[in-house]
Amino acid sequence: MIYLDCAATSHKKPDAVYKTLYNMTRYHSANAGHGANSLAVLASEYIYECAEKVSALFNISAPENIAFTHNTTFALNMAIKGVAGKKGHIIMTSMEHNSVARVVYASGDRYTIVYADENGRVEPNDIERAICADTTLVVVNHISNVCGRIQDISKIGQICQKRGVLFLVDAAQSAGVADIDVQKQNIDMLAFAGHKSLLGPLGTGGLYVKEGIVLDTIVEGGSGSSSEDKHQPLFMPDRLVSGTMNMPAIAALGSGVDFILKTGTRNILNHEQELKNRFIDGLKNIDGVRIYGGEDENYAGVVSVNIKNKNCVEVAERLDSEYKICVRAGLHCAPLAHETLGTLDKGGTVRFSFGIYNTKREVDKALDAVYKIQKSV
Ligand code: ALA
Repeated sequence: MIYLDCAATSHKKPDAVYKTLYNMTRYHSANAGHGANSLAVLASEYIYECAEKVSALFNISAPENIAFTHNTTFALNMAIKGVAGKKGHIIMTSMEHNSVARVVYASGDRYTIVYADENGRVEPNDIERAICADTTLVVVNHISNVCGRIQDISKIGQICQKRGVLFLVDAAQSAGVADIDVQKQNIDMLAFAGHKSLLGPLGTGGLYVKEGIVLDTIVEGGSGSSSEDKHQPLFMPDRLVSGTMNMPAIAALGSGVDFILKTGTRNILNHEQELKNRFIDGLKNIDGVRIYGGEDENYAGVVSVNIKNKNCVEVAERLDSEYKICVRAGLHCAPLAHETLGTLDKGGTVRFSFGIYNTKREVDKALDAVYKIQKSV
């Protein structure tokens, strides 16, 4: 089996991730933050250790400002709804996933969609022009899950800081791949996936919230702190974390982050871009293949394509059943991005997404399969 669906989730993980998950489940299961018995205290420490590692990766100065969640969607909901309650104007881009777009639509707030060009590039100055007197939040998808376009979040962060607007980065695809520095890039909130390029288990993600920002809560409950108070604590992470945490998965995420810190995001991005470029080079030699992604360094390892006269979902099904290649087809929960790229009326694209464990040989096999499918009737 060849797994080229890394934008959905990473399949293979470092061995340390499996080991930590097993050991924590088998020997250390306890309720972090709830109670003072020695196992519960240790469980809290394991979660804090993971927060320290994530902080090292994103240059976050206080690990307690990270709330672990089930996935990026949950983190984005907490961030957007936590600000939207203050009723203002929100800016998002046309490359947003539904985990941003639907939340913004549901917020009832006024919003502006800043359109990317047909290659998926957002012009930072367009964001500045969209800022109004009551704009509270700018949300930007860092790396597109549809075409791999990397946005200039440093420039957008500067603009948001200058204009006094909160800046939320959707790092679902970029955490573990791109350099992210919340301080240098003026990021106020960072929503990240644990199970994608950070190589942690499914069901992990998180939200970083800059010191001093107090979000409205969307979930309340037992934080294990200030229990006499009728209200959720104001301090992080308890503000955003209620109930029993998935400590084994979070600790295992820490082992994934260890791997990223050791390997280096620059090397990981280089590897994925090499595979992406090899794939695009090969696709160019196949008639009738339209590529929606770029060869330059502004695109990460995600390539969307369509084959002339072939339905994208059927192509993906054939890749799976005839060639044992896992990809994802359709709209990828990002209809606005497909509208931007001109692929909405085609029902989307077939997406190939590469990760650190993919090889050139796998890319070549995928090219061979695309060639054969294109030739077939
Ligand atoms: N957002 C993930 C994807 O693009 C699930 O496949």
